[in-house]
Amino acid sequence: MKIVILTGAGVSAESGLGTFRDKDGLWTKYDLNEVATPEGFARNPALVHQFYNARRSNAAGAVPNAAHDALARLIRTRPDDVTLITQNVDDLHERAGATAIHMHGSLFTARCHACAATWPAPQVMTPNDSCPECARPATRPDVVWFGEMPQHMELIHDRLLDADLFAAIGTSGQVYPAAGFVDLAREAGAETVEINLETTDIGGQFDSHIVGPASETVPVWVDNMLGGSRTG
Ligand code: APR
Repeated sequence: MKIVILTGAGVSAESGLGTFRDKDGLWTKYDLNEVATPEGFARNPALVHQFYNARRSNAAGAVPNAAHDALARLIRTRPDDVTLITQNVDDLHERAGATAIHMHGSLFTARCHACAATWPAPQVMTPNDSCPECARPATRPDVVWFGEMPQHMELIHDRLLDADLFAAIGTSGQVYPAAGFVDLAREAGAETVEINLETTDIGGQFDSHIVGPASETVPVWVDNMLGGSRTG
């Protein structure tokens, strides 16, 4: 059985990382047009670097929670059946031992917007940093901003069309193309489940819902998928 899982900010919320659209989410504190668009970066790169430096520091100080651990256990147990796609730019899935397809990039990779080279991001990035490849002062966080193409979409599309089960965990379903993944999975005949604190605006697209904090619901969901066996 092919399982495709999509995670959003809600899976890292209990690790202390802010979500975007909850009551005290990031987009209630920052104007996304200023810190998460190419236009905002062109206007004020220092502000954008400050925003991502703070998020990189928070993410580096966070610890994977039981939801990350359970998903890593599922992948370890069924490595050929599970595809984990994340909208998150933290590295908590990786630090829990899972490999995730980062469709919105990563806080921990830097990119040159002149020559497209990528390298491990330093803790603090500034507009004066120069690209290690072309030496031009053209570095940016390797994250996908609004108006930019998400990464790995061909692979994601193929996995969704081959899915028998699709689970969306901790995402509000407000941002496309991720919010449309459930429709692609349904087209493929997959069973679909939404795992969230609440039913979202796209909740009607899912066959079933598991409501509650991810650190409680995801381990139970994984146990049930593995037939209740705790195999490490
Ligand atoms: N357990 C489960 N779900 C949770 C928890 C939790 N502990 N805490 C919050 N949630 C749910 C919320 O109910 C909400 O549906 O997580 C979701 C978070 O939604 P958003 O803040 O919109 O985050 P996300 O869906 O990941 O945003 C998608 O938008 O701003 C862009 O690039 C950014 O990747 C992000 C994308």
